[in-house]
Amino acid sequence: MSIISTSRLVLRSWNPDDAAPLFAIYSDPEVTRHIPHVHLKDLDAARAKVREMMDLERKNGCTLWAVMREEELIGVCGFRTPDELGFAFRRDAWGNGYAQEAAIACIAWAARRGVRRILASVRPENAGSRRVLDRLGFTDTGKRSEDGLWCIYERLTASAAL
Ligand SMILES: CC(C)(COP(=O)(O)OP(=O)(O)OC[C@H]1O[C@@H](n2cnc3c(N)ncnc32)[C@H](O)[C@@H]1OP(=O)(O)O)[C@@H](O)C(=O)NCCC(=O)NCCS
Repeated sequence: MSIISTSRLVLRSWNPDDAAPLFAIYSDPEVTRHIPHVHLKDLDAARAKVREMMDLERKNGCTLWAVMREEELIGVCGFRTPDELGFAFRRDAWGNGYAQEAAIACIAWAARRGVRRILASVRPENAGSRRVLDRLGFTDTGKRSEDGLWCIYERLTASAAL
């Protein structure tokens, strides 16, 4: 099911056929360098990840959706919980503004549902992701995750338009 459309992208729910294209994204060590917990080592793990994304949407009404450029799955973007933004794109899709475009639409989606504050966790050494968050108007709260590895960024959905 299609959830969000932007000028170049559609964010949609997952289906079991997405395991192979998801594997192409999350098996790339460059993509998972700063998000090692999502690294996939084989197609079975990708199938399990797709099921997890589907379960999440059933449970929470949101997930890290499949990002489609026409018929091609090029990334994931959305919410693990209704106020926690995440994104990752296949390496050959980087540098085209897709993360920003998808995330802006996700923030608007959350705002329409009454979410007032969105969080994002990022490792301090993940310069690319921190830059995307800066451009989206997130600020570093100065807080860290319990394990100390992740910086917590936040953005009020009512803050200045993007
Ligand atoms: C981080 C990531 C999602 C960025 O995707 P993208 O589609 O290339 O980002 P965009 O093209 O929308 O870039 C938005 C801004 O961030 C900047 N940016 C993106 N990647 C960057 C990098 N590696 N270093 C510095 N700046 C970067 C862009 O130049 C752009 O800034 P500008 O508008 O001033 O030019 C992508 O590199 C990725 O998938 N990384 C691996 C997964 C990951 O780390 N996810 C985040 C977990 S917290």
